[in-house]
Amino acid sequence: MMKVLFVFGTRPEAIKMAPLIKEFQKYPDKFETTICVTAQHRQLLDQVLDFFDIKPDYDFNIMKKNQTLFDITVSILDKIHKTLNEVKPDIIFVQGDTTTTFVGALSGYYKKIKVAHLEAGLRSGNKYSPFPEEINRTLAGHLSNYHFAPTKNAKENLLKEGIKENIFVVGNTVVDALFLGLDILKEETEGKYIDYFKFIDFSKKIILVTGHRRESFGTPFENICYSLRELANEHKDIEIVYPVHLNPNVQEPVMRILKNKSNIHLIEPLEYPYFLWLMNKCYLILTDSGGIQEEAPSLGKPALVMREVTERMEGIELGTSKLVGTNKEKIIKETSLLLTNKEEYRRMAKRSNPYGDGKTSKRIIKILTRD
Ligand code: UD1
Ligand code: UDP
Repeated sequence: MMKVLFVFGTRPEAIKMAPLIKEFQKYPDKFETTICVTAQHRQLLDQVLDFFDIKPDYDFNIMKKNQTLFDITVSILDKIHKTLNEVKPDIIFVQGDTTTTFVGALSGYYKKIKVAHLEAGLRSGNKYSPFPEEINRTLAGHLSNYHFAPTKNAKENLLKEGIKENIFVVGNTVVDALFLGLDILKEETEGKYIDYFKFIDFSKKIILVTGHRRESFGTPFENICYSLRELANEHKDIEIVYPVHLNPNVQEPVMRILKNKSNIHLIEPLEYPYFLWLMNKCYLILTDSGGIQEEAPSLGKPALVMREVTERMEGIELGTSKLVGTNKEKIIKETSLLLTNKEEYRRMAKRSNPYGDGKTSKRIIKILTRD
């Protein structure tokens, strides 16, 4: 019997951990699973836990308004020590590159418990962008014993850093989650979603927007908002739908610059299935999200990435996403091109996903049980 502890705390970690937890829970004779959420996010995390019907055994409930990196790090470290003493896991799973990920891996290392890192090996090569994710994932990688890399590129990044053992290229569980989500959508009536989004004029081209990166706070984020405002003024055939992240550093400029425009809908963060439904209906996506860059090609939606660098180069190389930075003119130019040039749009709107095939969780279980 292997005791497996899952440690996560934010929306994207929960989405990407959910299919793996579900897969482990299919084998209660082989694995004893314990779920520990730091609740670095609260509402955004709970939406995902509810959707996937995951009940945490431990909930640190650490989130506070406008928390600092120091707040998150210290409060998780403080609480996780007791949990590790109680659970005594054989292995701890962490996912991605948040501060929960880094501290989860660090605590496993301190207790000499094996750490498995899901989505290992992503690198932008710039330690301040994305901030603090580039350093979180690098440190998590060096603290971990098993490295579940989504792609060959990710594996190569680890090898370059001298990490040689237990690297497995398995794809990204983001696609497992997407398939689970789409299956559930198929069972539901379209009417439920059409009714929920009745404020959107679907006869127009829908531009779906998200943004939350710390390195963009301040002027870059304002530039993003100004570009959206201009796009909404220039193109009368579009509707911009923007589920606004709950971070106050995001809420403030977005509300100040974009509210009260008839073709910009600023809405609350969407529950995962609603977000998937809208992603499937939209014309294009403007985002700085890691997860959305990975999901968009499964749905054949072009993604313009509003960041200076990305660690998700596979989508860029395939041509399904494009790095447009946070420069106002560039965002407007690239978005307008996709709105007006059919050939360019067709070139990017390919349904092909370099990040996974939906079988990542199964591969991981196979690897852990093969000895
Ligand atoms: C965090 C992660 C980032 C990840 C992102 C996904 C860190 C440092 N950052 O960024 O890597 O890409 O999540 O969304 O690990 N808030 C709420 N309710 C919520 C969530 C957030 O009110 O459910 C507000 C709070 O005021 C909180 C603030 O947002 O203090 C920031 O949350 P935090 O987790 O520190 O940073 P994110 O920007 O969400
Ligand atoms: N997402 C969601 N509702 C929203 C916006 C995003 O469910 O309103 C999902 C999205 O499908 C993806 C994940 O949240 O799976 C991405 O999270 P986020 O952008 O917060 O974090 P990142 O991936 O950048 O770390």
